[in-house]
Amino acid sequence: MEEDKLICTCMDVYKSTIVKAIKEKNLKTVEEVGEETEAGTVCGQCQDDIQEILVEINGK
Ligand code: FES
Repeated sequence: MEEDKLICTCMDVYKSTIVKAIKEKNLKTVEEVGEETEAGTVCGQCQDDIQEILVEINGK
């Protein structure tokens, strides 16, 4: 198991939370992840990381 990582320091959202939301709700965009988890909705600095997670899960 990969260790969990804090992705969004503004909203205190961890990678595991984002991964779970993407899988459960079939999210495709950074905006959708923001709506579900609030990650990326404050300063936006973590949006690149969120995009990477999206690619990791959805993209092939
Ligand atoms: S670190 Fe995610 S919005 Fe600021």
